[in-house]
Amino acid sequence: MNQAPRPFQSSLCPVLNGTAKIPGDKSISHRSLMLGGMAIGQTTISGLLEGEDVIRTADAMRAMGADIQKHDNGTWICHGVGIGGLREPDQVLDMGNSGTSTRLLMGLIGGHPITAQITGDTSLTKRPMNRVIKPLEMMGVEFTAREGGRLPLTLTGPEDLLPIEYRLPVASAQVKSAILLAGLCANGTTTVIEETPTRDHTENMLRAFGIEVDVQTLEDGAQAISVTGGKDLTATDIIVPSDPSSAAFPTVAALICEGSKITLSNILMNERRNGLYITLKEMGANIEFTNERMQAGEPIADLIIKGNQTLKGIDVPPGRVPSMIDEFPILAIAASCAEGTTHMTNLAELRVKESDRLLMMAKGLKACGVDLEMGEDSLTIHGTGKPPKGGAKIKTALDHRIAMSFLVLGCTTQKPVIIDDATPIHTSFPNFVELMSGLGANISLIS
Ligand code: S3P
Repeated sequence: MNQAPRPFQSSLCPVLNGTAKIPGDKSISHRSLMLGGMAIGQTTISGLLEGEDVIRTADAMRAMGADIQKHDNGTWICHGVGIGGLREPDQVLDMGNSGTSTRLLMGLIGGHPITAQITGDTSLTKRPMNRVIKPLEMMGVEFTAREGGRLPLTLTGPEDLLPIEYRLPVASAQVKSAILLAGLCANGTTTVIEETPTRDHTENMLRAFGIEVDVQTLEDGAQAISVTGGKDLTATDIIVPSDPSSAAFPTVAALICEGSKITLSNILMNERRNGLYITLKEMGANIEFTNERMQAGEPIADLIIKGNQTLKGIDVPPGRVPSMIDEFPILAIAASCAEGTTHMTNLAELRVKESDRLLMMAKGLKACGVDLEMGEDSLTIHGTGKPPKGGAKIKTALDHRIAMSFLVLGCTTQKPVIIDDATPIHTSFPNFVELMSGLGANISLIS
């Protein structure tokens, strides 16, 4: 992302009203292209998120031989290379801002006896990759990376990849997925043990592509997830549901703008992703889940959100964190408008996301007049039940979720909220400004 920064302003809007279609889920979109790009036969993907991060995954898979094309009717068609079939890319793979593309592809590439170089933008090159490098090295993959396991890095997969059993030291679906994807190429059974459940899209989607994924609960309550390598994936058709992490932004906007009523349809409600919605309900939010159904193996629902209640501060249970790991910036906005104290703990992982989200949220909210305390891995926000004053210019640090969170806050503050750069929003929610404007928000580019 080398575009010039685009500062945007969000000003008080009376209410949000209407129905909106949220783009496809980012996690499922990445995996659709990766698995479709490996599978034998034709995979058809409808509802793919066409954000920059996902396009980086498509480009990388193409650079390694997968045939991936967008059709005129909006669906994406993949013809995969087969397990073991990735070819060495001619150029450096530039993953832009996308940690998911980088980490999951490190696993897939590591399973092949090829060499690839991976880089990213100034946000991604600061993020820790050792968490993936370490288990992949145990499988026989060789790495040369910058200090602390930072990008750019070069990796070379071995001729014979070793299966491993690995207990995750951090609750991370990206690390789990990287190991399982590498495991598809290993000679034997690879097992990942996770103490805290994280999103299970890799497991669910591998099954949809015909791979057996065994899940056992161990004596200590941890789950052991196993795949056996050497079997080809069989192409399948995928319908990508709308992203609950993106839906979170208009949801909170409607809740903090009194008198709002919006409907968001087809939202993914996987129980490892819906922690924010449970939390908002506990805060007293009026969110109705209607038309609950299963679509392509995932639970989805239509959401009706009404801003007719002052939210109440709560303690967020630490065990719930993985199911809402990307939603703390927007929860912090809701907490800033709530009455009473919201206490969020177990947030160490937020410091290594697209930005140090704990710090960026604490700084930005303080500048908007919010009373809060930030700890090493916690954030405590004291809300007054009224919107904070706003009137600040926020640094977004190449972080799409920081950018969108503060544009949501500006919908309800007396003074406008300005963000220094809205370009990162294109990584996950390319039509965010148009969608919010369509619901009644006052968000515009400033010079
Ligand atoms: C993701 C996992 C999460 C999340 C990210 C997407 C995935 O990261 O923050 O936005 O698709 O697997 P971690 O696994 O590092 O927590």
